[in-house]
Amino acid sequence: MLVEARILAGEVAILDGLSLTFSAGPPTVLIGPNGAGKTTLLRAAMGLLPLTSGRVTWGGREQAAPDRRAILFQRPAMLRRSAAGNVRYALAAAGVPRAQRAARIEELLALVGLEKFAARPARRLSGGEQQRLALARALARNPALLLLDEPAASLDPAATKAIEDIVRAVAARGVKVVMSTHDLGQAKRLAGDVVLLHRGRLLEHTPAAQFFAQPRTQEARKFIAGELLV
Ligand SMILES: Nc1ncnc2c1ncn2[C@@H]1O[C@H](COP(=O)(O)OP(=O)(O)OP(=O)(O)O)[C@@H](O)[C@H]1O
Ligand SMILES: [Mg+2]
Repeated sequence: MLVEARILAGEVAILDGLSLTFSAGPPTVLIGPNGAGKTTLLRAAMGLLPLTSGRVTWGGREQAAPDRRAILFQRPAMLRRSAAGNVRYALAAAGVPRAQRAARIEELLALVGLEKFAARPARRLSGGEQQRLALARALARNPALLLLDEPAASLDPAATKAIEDIVRAVAARGVKVVMSTHDLGQAKRLAGDVVLLHRGRLLEHTPAAQFFAQPRTQEARKFIAGELLV
């Protein structure tokens, strides 16, 4: 997937002169300080934001079929239904035939380790459980591209590991994952390649091992050292 984007809010550029390709393979991890443009980039890749100029292309075509992409927002909202009901809703929205939904609900809840909570009202689940449920909902679309915005933000180490394991499992099945995180340890654990954004611009896009061992830009070195502020 190729994203070339310039997004202005009034006069202010939120993403500027950005051009990057997401290729098949291990997850691409977006990093950068607060306000760098990570969420904006993910929303643009999902087709949720009008681009001031530029394009998002998929396999050379102008747009992906919408059901080949799914996004998990920074703060997912749960429907006032059971955990299973939330997944059922997502399956219906994705056009999965009614007869197949029960089996898919079971499979998706098992994938995210929530099979025991199927009947529990989603809004009563803990933050970490809700995050995993939101991931199951995103996967209901059977996406080829899965966009995750800080999927483990404010989760404890065990819940974070659960999310990372799911990301690995999903990526191993051939789903392209693009995710943002503020957790450099997580970026090291999951990333095939790293994209560093700063003030709406792309500073680096390099294989993860190289990014952490020999960051090219001074901003990247500062970011890794925890010194790059907005
Ligand atoms: N619709 C909008 N109108 C004006 N400014 C916006 C709009 N959306 C985002 N911004 C600004 O664009 C910048 C990038 O925001 P974005 O949410 O993409 O950052 P981020 O990298 O996800 O940050 P964080 O790590 O805090 O989640 C911020 O300064 C934000 O305030
Ligand atoms: Mg964000």
